Amino acid sequence: MIYFDNSATTKADPEVVSTYDKVSDKVWGNPSSLHQFGEEAFNLLEQSRKQIADLIGASQSEVLFTSGGSEGDNWVLKGTAIEKRQFGNHLITTAVEHPAIHNSMEQLKKLGFEVTYLPVDKHGRISIDDLKAAIRPTTILVSIMAVNNEIGTIQPLKEAAEVLKDYPKIHFHIDAVQGIGKGIQDLIMNDRVDFVTFSGHKFHAPRGIGFIYARRGRKIAPLIDGGGQERSLRGGTENLPAIAAMAKALRLLLTDEKKKVANEAAIKQRIFDHVKEFPLVTTFSEDNAGFAPHILCFAIQGVRGETIVHAFEEQGIYISTTSACSSKKHIPSSTLSAMHVPEELSTSAIRISLDDHNTLAEADEFNKVFDKLYDKFKLLSA
Ligand SMILES: Cc1ncc(COP(=O)(O)O)c(C=O)c1O
Repeated sequence: MIYFDNSATTKADPEVVSTYDKVSDKVWGNPSSLHQFGEEAFNLLEQSRKQIADLIGASQSEVLFTSGGSEGDNWVLKGTAIEKRQFGNHLITTAVEHPAIHNSMEQLKKLGFEVTYLPVDKHGRISIDDLKAAIRPTTILVSIMAVNNEIGTIQPLKEAAEVLKDYPKIHFHIDAVQGIGKGIQDLIMNDRVDFVTFSGHKFHAPRGIGFIYARRGRKIAPLIDGGGQERSLRGGTENLPAIAAMAKALRLLLTDEKKKVANEAAIKQRIFDHVKEFPLVTTFSEDNAGFAPHILCFAIQGVRGETIVHAFEEQGIYISTTSACSSKKHIPSSTLSAMHVPEELSTSAIRISLDDHNTLAEADEFNKVFDKLYDKFKLLSA
């Protein structure tokens, strides 16, 4: 079996699972308890926080644990809106964000906030001039994803950071769920960013765990009120086994990152070079530095994405339509729609998403299977 759906989720690493099991078994105290079991749990919690902070170049108090990417995105947006509503009611984001951002923005609109969705070009990329033009005296937040989850576009984060240096009061948030471990940490953890969302299951940690980076001194209201955990910013007894496992997963991910990124880029290139030669294929991802190394999105004209996904599945290859969220809803990809790709083509799109465990041999096998299936696709297309 070949698993090429890593942007949906990754398989938890065996070492990470082992950490999870060990912590569940041995460090089962509540970090808030005063006795020795509590203290032991608290120490491990803070050790994990420190490890993660060191790995992303932050300080320990700037890492706050969440249940994953959706919570992180919701928290930063709604937490900023609540915290800063007396200063303004305008938020800026892009037209190609994950639903965790888009739907949070739509909810905020119903509460009286105003939202600007920055348009994108044919590569799914925003323009910095549009960002500059969108900023108002009432703008309280700019949220831009690092890497698009459907086609892999890397947004101009450094340039956005430069623009926002002139507006120090605006919260700058980056959704880095698809960007971590992809060789662009300098773009994500730039010197202007205030909040960054990360999700564990995208890098071989268990599902249901994540964290945000929150720059010291930048305030957001809690989304989950509770018993004082996470500096009273996120209530709920901490999921310590998953947190310790995520710290391990992040360390493993960032070990030899360059080599892993080069491997993923080579696999993507091999498939890209092969499929782009077929007349029915339209590629949306590009094979250059403006795109992440692990995501390749293309359409086979006249064949529905679901049909392509199932045809590959029958051959033991697991891919997806453009995103896990949209795949079961049979709706066209929001990213491709924002790029003005016609619906008859966007519903024929599929996404291949790689991780550091994939190999060039798998790319060759994919290409072989592609050749075999192409005749069938040709018939369906006709
Ligand atoms: C860019 C992006 N943001 C946020 C999320 C949500 O993350 P989670 O599944 O951890 O809630 C995803 C998940 O696919 C994503 O790709």
